[in-house]
Amino acid sequence: MSALLDIRDLRIRRKDGGNVLRGVSVTAAAREVHGLVGESGAGRTTVTRAILGMLPDDMRIAGGRIRFDDSDLLDMHPSPRRRLLGRHIATIPRDPLMALTPSRRIGRQVADVFRENLKFGRTESRRAALQLLEEVGVREPEHAAERYPYELSAVARQRVLIAIAFACSPKLVIADEPTAALDVTAQMQILRLIADMTESRRSALLFVTHDLSVVARMCDRVTVMHEGMVVEQGPVSQMLSKDAQPFTRALMASMPRHDRPGEILEPVPELVRAELRARVAEYDRRHR
Ligand SMILES: Nc1ncnc2c1ncn2[C@@H]1O[C@H](COP(=O)(O)OP(=O)(O)O)[C@@H](O)[C@H]1O
Ligand SMILES: [Mg+2]
Repeated sequence: MSALLDIRDLRIRRKDGGNVLRGVSVTAAAREVHGLVGESGAGRTTVTRAILGMLPDDMRIAGGRIRFDDSDLLDMHPSPRRRLLGRHIATIPRDPLMALTPSRRIGRQVADVFRENLKFGRTESRRAALQLLEEVGVREPEHAAERYPYELSAVARQRVLIAIAFACSPKLVIADEPTAALDVTAQMQILRLIADMTESRRSALLFVTHDLSVVARMCDRVTVMHEGMVVEQGPVSQMLSKDAQPFTRALMASMPRHDRPGEILEPVPELVRAELRARVAEYDRRHR
């Protein structure tokens, strides 16, 4: 079976010459929940931005390819690419207030997705929007639909964004630490909702997280990154087992779990870091 998402040897550099992604390969099957884990600066966000064609101005692609559903994203012309992304790849942004249009009522913003992507008419898209708001757990959807983004709580706004992301049953949803701005109780609810929607819409999920309990509970497979390299990739059971590579084991032990607040975490041992540093240095010697 061919992968839904197939990133091969993706190399990204800063325009000043520094390497950001050092030959990253990630594959995810249809309906797979794939965790992207690593310490801050590992390159996880850069991977998601490369898929979405939204790299910062000072980064460029130096090599590799990204295939999605049999299209080569890096070779596509901008407009078919935008259509493909709009219809089949959705994102759950981290900051719901920034991601919603401040001056447009919630119900309209959800309905817009049905109008634009599925060409629903006005009545049909409004009905679909209300139904979806209810499905994602927005209370009193009729009432909420008439509100502006700032009038909703942070959790309700995140529910709205999840509604928008899953509205058209995308093949892939990308979520880059989507609960970072929420308190622990809200995080649990939102994670559950993301898992439920991923399941019911039969979407694949590429999930950037630093939370080990999220990895353990939600992911089918995991890619561990460090300094723009893939350290290890495999089924979650393997990645959480004693058979995982030393850095994977150390990273997992250093990751917090939202369901065990206050737990004492093990820092990644210096010896393990030193080995990775050597790999990075070796890559950089070959790719100046
Ligand atoms: N806008 C940017 N311009 C240049 N470098 C950036 C930018 N954003 C991030 N970086 C650098 O790219 C590397 C990877 O960062 P990032 O993909 O954000 O990692 P992660 O999401 O895993 O924390 C880091 O070294 C970071 O400093
Ligand atoms: Mg990031």
